[in-house]
Amino acid sequence: MCGIVGYVGSNDAYPVLIEGLSVLEYRGYDSAGIALVKEKGLEVYKDKGKVDNLRSITTQIGKNSFGTGIAHTRWATHGAPSKINAHPHTDQHSKIALVHNGIIENYSVIKEHLQNEGVQFQTETDTEVLAQLVGKYYEGDLADAVRRALLEVEGAFGIAVIAHDKPGLLVGARRGSPLVVGVGVDEMFLASDAAAIVAHTKDVIYLKDNNLIEMTPQEYSITTLDNKKINPEITTIEWSADALAKGGYDHFMLKEIFEQPETIRNAMRGRLLTDEGAARLDGLNLVLQELRGIQRLIFVACGTSWHAALVGEYMIEEVAGIPVEVEYASEFRYRNPIIGPNTLIFVISQSGETADTLAALREASFKGATVLGICNAVGSSIARETHGGVYLHAGPEIGVASTKAFTSQLTVLSLLTLLLGRMRRISNSDGVSIAKALEAVPDQVREILKQNDAIREIAENYARHNNFLYLGRSYNFPVALEGALKLKEISYVHAEGYPAAEMKHGPIALIDKDMPSVVIAMKDSIYDKVISNIQEVKARGGSVIAIATEGDTEIAKHARHVIYIPKTIPMLTPLLSVIPLQLLAYHIAALRGCEIDQPRNLAKSVTVE
Ligand code: G6P
Repeated sequence: MCGIVGYVGSNDAYPVLIEGLSVLEYRGYDSAGIALVKEKGLEVYKDKGKVDNLRSITTQIGKNSFGTGIAHTRWATHGAPSKINAHPHTDQHSKIALVHNGIIENYSVIKEHLQNEGVQFQTETDTEVLAQLVGKYYEGDLADAVRRALLEVEGAFGIAVIAHDKPGLLVGARRGSPLVVGVGVDEMFLASDAAAIVAHTKDVIYLKDNNLIEMTPQEYSITTLDNKKINPEITTIEWSADALAKGGYDHFMLKEIFEQPETIRNAMRGRLLTDEGAARLDGLNLVLQELRGIQRLIFVACGTSWHAALVGEYMIEEVAGIPVEVEYASEFRYRNPIIGPNTLIFVISQSGETADTLAALREASFKGATVLGICNAVGSSIARETHGGVYLHAGPEIGVASTKAFTSQLTVLSLLTLLLGRMRRISNSDGVSIAKALEAVPDQVREILKQNDAIREIAENYARHNNFLYLGRSYNFPVALEGALKLKEISYVHAEGYPAAEMKHGPIALIDKDMPSVVIAMKDSIYDKVISNIQEVKARGGSVIAIATEGDTEIAKHARHVIYIPKTIPMLTPLLSVIPLQLLAYHIAALRGCEIDQPRNLAKSVTVE
């Protein structure tokens, strides 16, 4: 959730670090800081708030910054978001400086020991405890001091460390928090996210848990924390730095919404077998006979990915006839779930680093289950630790509110449904119908996006409302949850998603003229029931924004505003119905003057519990 950038090389470190921080800001951003090895020792600069605040107090140091430094954007866990608590942290003699993602769980015990030894602490953070510990052990061999300190530490960390008397040396280590190493010519990079370094090199090494790296501009050496040599694999980043630019859009979120025709197509490319009415997902690493024997699926995820999983449950149960359970990762990991034989677990995560999802994956693996992943971030911890899986190929998602990852997840889940369905319940011709409908989705999404201006006008009518209800049924119940989540996340407006018929059991009490309802009312077998739900809202003075099927001539009589989407088969409607909800949330947030790409209190990748 916080961001780390480190540099060691023949160029100035400062520009690499400050630009890297700007790219990483989406991960967490209540304060930022930078530390450089200079002639007279370590120089540390920090500030509260955005990276631009830090930039404004540090532009002068860009000159002659030397080629060694570390930087950090923070999302507070221990200690308030303040300048003093911002990283980097140093030991009491400023021998070393350290940035840290994660949580040191036994920090209070270590802190007490150090205080008894006379160490003076400056901050309330767990990270300073680690910095003081490394400082205590530092006697000229930085990697050794880091190793000794980490052996005493419990919890999660991704760290980068420099020493006052070691220009040209950078040490990093990880357990539980991601770190990627960039290999350049006469320069090396370290970051919590490849986005921060892709402008400089595409050759990267994803560090594994309990790995420590020591690097100079020309060389690096990776060992385990107990000092066994590792031979790393260098991989190439598939996307370019352009993917990290807004490309003319006001916000990354809007850009990512508009990328969806392409990202949905990318998710099915080479996988959808239209003529066979089937799909191939080779990355699952399972032979067809193994898949045939599956009697139960469990999807585990958090946030938007959990909503995608719910849609997947509806799809797979209906088309493939396999029972599916959907679990919040944070619940699954602690509740000793029953995982019988012939049960397949799928963890779904855009970032591939969500702490709860990763822990759930480990718990399921520990119980001997086969765990597969549906991830976007290549080389992420979840992608690496699963037995197999499917990448989304959606490119980096920067906006904190997930949009294109959600529709790519739905696309992959549709492919999985086809694959499993064709092995069990559905014929070639039924499979071909689904495959053709899926093929049409990218162009249908493009058609919906053309209504952007009209959706903004609708948003103008509702931007001042402070409570919303989102209602949907069947496949579109999870979309109602997702629409409400989008609005909450970026506009700080209270919104509840509900199965439309459940509204009568509580939320209906809230409805009045100030609480609009967004109702997904597809022309399907339960259309009439949804219309009744709309009538119930109207009878209480509530206004309705309906998401309806093109050609539905009746709905306009019932709803104050209607946004039409093209017709598709029921299981694919979420891929279309969510698009207007993303745009509606975006425009309401923009009209309220909210920070869309970096909403308060949220982080893109939640790497702590
Ligand atoms: C955070 C993000 C959400 C995301 C969730 C799960 O809360 O702000 O957008 O849906 O984490 O993330 P994952 O990377 O596991 O999909």
